[in-house]
Amino acid sequence: MSNIEALKSEIVETVKAANDIDTLEEVRVSALGKKGKVTGLMQTLGTLSPEQRREMGQALNRLKDEITAEIEARAGTLRSAALNARLEKEKVDVTLSSRPQGRGTIHPISQTIEEMITIFADMGFAVAEGPEIEDDFHNFTALNFPPEHPARQMHDTFYFPDAPAKEGDAAKRLLRTHTSTVQVHTMQSQKPPIRVIIPGRTFRSDYDMTHTPMFHQMEGLLIDKTTHMGHLKGCLIEFCKRFFEVDELPTRFRPSFFPFTEPSAEMDIGCSRAGGELKIGAGKDWLEILGCGMVHPNVLKNCGIDPDEYQGFAFGMGIERVAMLKYGIPDLRTFFESDLRWLKHYGFGPMEQPNAALS
Ligand code: DAH
Repeated sequence: MSNIEALKSEIVETVKAANDIDTLEEVRVSALGKKGKVTGLMQTLGTLSPEQRREMGQALNRLKDEITAEIEARAGTLRSAALNARLEKEKVDVTLSSRPQGRGTIHPISQTIEEMITIFADMGFAVAEGPEIEDDFHNFTALNFPPEHPARQMHDTFYFPDAPAKEGDAAKRLLRTHTSTVQVHTMQSQKPPIRVIIPGRTFRSDYDMTHTPMFHQMEGLLIDKTTHMGHLKGCLIEFCKRFFEVDELPTRFRPSFFPFTEPSAEMDIGCSRAGGELKIGAGKDWLEILGCGMVHPNVLKNCGIDPDEYQGFAFGMGIERVAMLKYGIPDLRTFFESDLRWLKHYGFGPMEQPNAALS
């Protein structure tokens, strides 16, 4: 028995002497591993008389438990010491002054959204938001897209795989293809007068120089009793002048078609492309920048608003598109590549005001 005691104190000594986890593991293997000292003793049990075997067996099991407990205690001490050493080494001094060379930038999309909100907020618009995962009702049906209408296909919709196969099923889940869905949510939850803008992500299955599967839109919706097309034009012309920072801006509204507006129009702004350089506000060329129109009476009805009492206008534009025009960014895909050089070049400093706020 006394040699078990001796073995125990010998092993416990080596456990205590182990100064890192690897050494401790070696100690464990040399005591309790397949060829370890304790295991070796266990293997001699067969040579003993039954009486001795029981006594020795119990003693060896106890020894094993005690050694395991010692090793675990030591491992706990070593691990917390290692963690403390690491925390000490990796400590960040938050009182250090900032390093301007490593400064992050505001993404042009965030900057553009801020600028747009600043201008529309000045005109009395509030910001509204809605879900990116939508259903067929909010994305299409409530917005007066008839079932089987070709405009549904034009949207290159991402449908969820759990969706039932039938097109036009109100509950069919999808990623919203436009922010016009939030017109529906807003009209369902607020009473007119309504005056909101809706910035947000939208999704379509398309990818090239001018299309990415995820992009941003800014929607606008105004519902009141006497709102007319003149208000729509005045509001959008004023917005474009402030956004592009030009006092004189030729504009034109071309007749167009959207299922949710009647009449519908597309707005163009004047520009020049002389010498390969795009200049907004001067010249004989035109740039299409948004879709708009008077909200279709069916849409008002679908959202619980009486079209005999209320009317209004809506508009929608691509945020990347206007950012590209304003800041001279040639390729849409670069917005989402997270290339640090691009972000440094086109990004904005955190202390920079949206310039529209200054005018
Ligand atoms: N939802 C349209 C699109 O994604 C854009 C649009 C056009 C929105 C006209 C409107 C509108 O609110 O009146 O192509």
